[in-house]
Amino acid sequence: MIFKRRSFARGAGRLDMSNIPKHIGIIMDGNGRWASRRGLPRSAGHRRGAQTLEKIVEYCASLGVEVVTAYAFSTENWSRPKDEVDAIMKLLYDYLSDAERRFRDNNTRFTVSGDVSKFSPKLRTAIENTVDITKDGKSITLNLALNYGGRDEIVRAARSLAQDAAQGRLAPDSLDENMFASRLDTASLPEVDLIIRPSGEQRLSNFLLWQAAYAEFWYSDICWPDFTENDMKSAILAYQSRNRRFGGV
Ligand code: IPE
Ligand code: IPE
Ligand code: MG
Repeated sequence: MIFKRRSFARGAGRLDMSNIPKHIGIIMDGNGRWASRRGLPRSAGHRRGAQTLEKIVEYCASLGVEVVTAYAFSTENWSRPKDEVDAIMKLLYDYLSDAERRFRDNNTRFTVSGDVSKFSPKLRTAIENTVDITKDGKSITLNLALNYGGRDEIVRAARSLAQDAAQGRLAPDSLDENMFASRLDTASLPEVDLIIRPSGEQRLSNFLLWQAAYAEFWYSDICWPDFTENDMKSAILAYQSRNRRFGGV
């Protein structure tokens, strides 16, 4: 179609399809500012942000990205006003209630990183159900970071290893990086290649602390609800221009 308006078709530069990041982390930031600038409640920004995620995951799947880990709610976000936290929980529940159409029909596997034990039983059931009905999804994995904090994840991993050691199932000297990583929430996922943060902030805010060790970073001033396929393409083009040395020469 000549008048194709999908913005990603316009982006300058061509992606190297042999060097697509396998695992992309996204800090979905700027929902509140997006809404405030439009005179809308912050919750409207979160709702729009959820729609953006759907579109971006679909685009990533079309490129062959294997995993998108999207930061949706941090261990620190409980400190927000109760009405905002409640609105995010409701949005999450509504988002998962539609899981068959949203995930299963397009072959997306849905997984979670984070401590979901802090959520309501109703929300936990919706999460478990979504994980279960999408477990054979082959096109892409959407790993949602929910009540996720990198420090909390590391402490939970350390606690489970310490319990094994205390019960004689683990010799402390045998602990190495691979064993430690196998206790993290991301154990079954490939290494994180690229971390994206929109909305102008340049910090991790407790996202994927261990996994970020050799990830590439890409920042943008765009608020997450305005993030387009073209922005994702720019991020991947930047990633492809980097020389990842992993400490070598
Ligand atoms: C990110 O957007 C979404 C969550 C943290 C749940 P924000 O709500 O942090 O938006 P800003 O940063 O206030 O604009
Ligand atoms: C990080 O954004 C958490 C999520 C996007 C879910 P925040 O808005 O909570 O981070 P800070 O407060 O700016 O560091
Ligand atoms: Mg924010």
